[in-house]
Amino acid sequence: AKQYDNCIIGSGLSGSVIAQQYSTFNQSSLIIEKRSHIGGNCYDTIDSETGIRISLYGAHLFHTNSDRVWNYVQQFGHWVNYEHKVLGLVNGKYVPIPVNIDTVNALFDLNISTEEEMKEWLIQEQVLFLEKDGTTIREPKDSEEVALTRVGERLYELIFKPYTWKQWAKYPKELGPEVLSRIPVRSNHDGRYFSDRYQALPQNGYTSLFENMLDSPWITVVTDTDYFDVRDKIQCKRLYYTGPIDAYFNHLGWPKLEYRSLSFERGVKFNTEYFQPAAVVNHPQSHDYETGKEVDFTRIVEYKHFLNQTSDHTVYFIERSTDDGDPYYPVPNDENKELYKRYQGMAEKEEGVRFVGRLANYKYFNMDQAILNALEVVDQDTGRVVVEEG
Ligand code: FDA
Repeated sequence: AKQYDNCIIGSGLSGSVIAQQYSTFNQSSLIIEKRSHIGGNCYDTIDSETGIRISLYGAHLFHTNSDRVWNYVQQFGHWVNYEHKVLGLVNGKYVPIPVNIDTVNALFDLNISTEEEMKEWLIQEQVLFLEKDGTTIREPKDSEEVALTRVGERLYELIFKPYTWKQWAKYPKELGPEVLSRIPVRSNHDGRYFSDRYQALPQNGYTSLFENMLDSPWITVVTDTDYFDVRDKIQCKRLYYTGPIDAYFNHLGWPKLEYRSLSFERGVKFNTEYFQPAAVVNHPQSHDYETGKEVDFTRIVEYKHFLNQTSDHTVYFIERSTDDGDPYYPVPNDENKELYKRYQGMAEKEEGVRFVGRLANYKYFNMDQAILNALEVVDQDTGRVVVEEG
């Protein structure tokens, strides 16, 4: 077998960035990918019935504050500025998510107009946890308390409690404070989903970015191949593993590291402009306000809205949170954290192997974090020194 400088397991962002970076050092990489395509969870393709570009593993919006990451991704395709907006269907009304002045006005029939007024309203709503003597505020001990201190009871009951249940099959009370610790509430009219400096979508989709990244004589990609089936047959100086960490160690008879997954139910409307008023509509409530029917899904994504795609038809995907399926969101509880730590200890002792990316680190990464991480792994392993500008 040919000897490569690097074997890279997985062709998602983490693996692809590493291979691309080594190609600039004239080092060869063999990428082994289990799926039938490159790109990992960023993979997109054209829907055959509508001609609309869709993502197979959920909507992917690029956003970052990192100049390094932003400059890096420019090399592989043209990016179009795109500020993502999400609406929530709450009590029969489409309201901005994250919650801002307009959300609160619509839901509670208010007329808040300034940041000051919004801050005052929030303070009235917030539930504070006081010690018995009524003075000091104690730290919220679970996600319910976090939400109550931040948004108060009404928004919590309307939006955050039922949505968390749908997403995690657990109520916020049963989840550590970190799960809802970053829920954003805006005291202005900002209706953008992200507030990062750079927000954009690749004009020709993510898959074409990956093709450009991997288009090098130094990179060989093999798809439809599980690393564990070919482990003994490949030869490399170094191994970069971006799959699940517990799979690498063959689970050792320990419980599985838990993930929440998503299922996607495709729907199509022929000769229809749009199915819904925004690319992403969240459905936090457990029952439909008008019909009273159960709503067991978390959100619906209509890809035609992204970059104003044109088609006579439209296609949408109903997302449900599930227990089994592809690993998407690590379940943040003590058992999983403990278990991951044991694997991490073993990973550190694994010579010549680097564990990179969201699955190997059992951590949710946004795309920009995955890219930065992979760039920094190559910095470390090549001794490259990068001078940050600005
Ligand atoms: P990724 O999972 O992409 O790649 C790992 C690859 O390894 C996969 O292709 C897998 O098949 C392969 N593999 C695993 N085991 C293997 C084995 N044994 N042999 C061979 N191959 C193996 N981020 C963001 O910035 N904005 C967004 O809007 C979103 N949206 C979003 C939605 C959903 C539903 C999810 C789950 C995630 C997002 N993300 C996101 C996050 C984004 O998907 C994430 O940052 C990247 O996919 C991380 O890339 P990795 O390469 O680390 O993992």
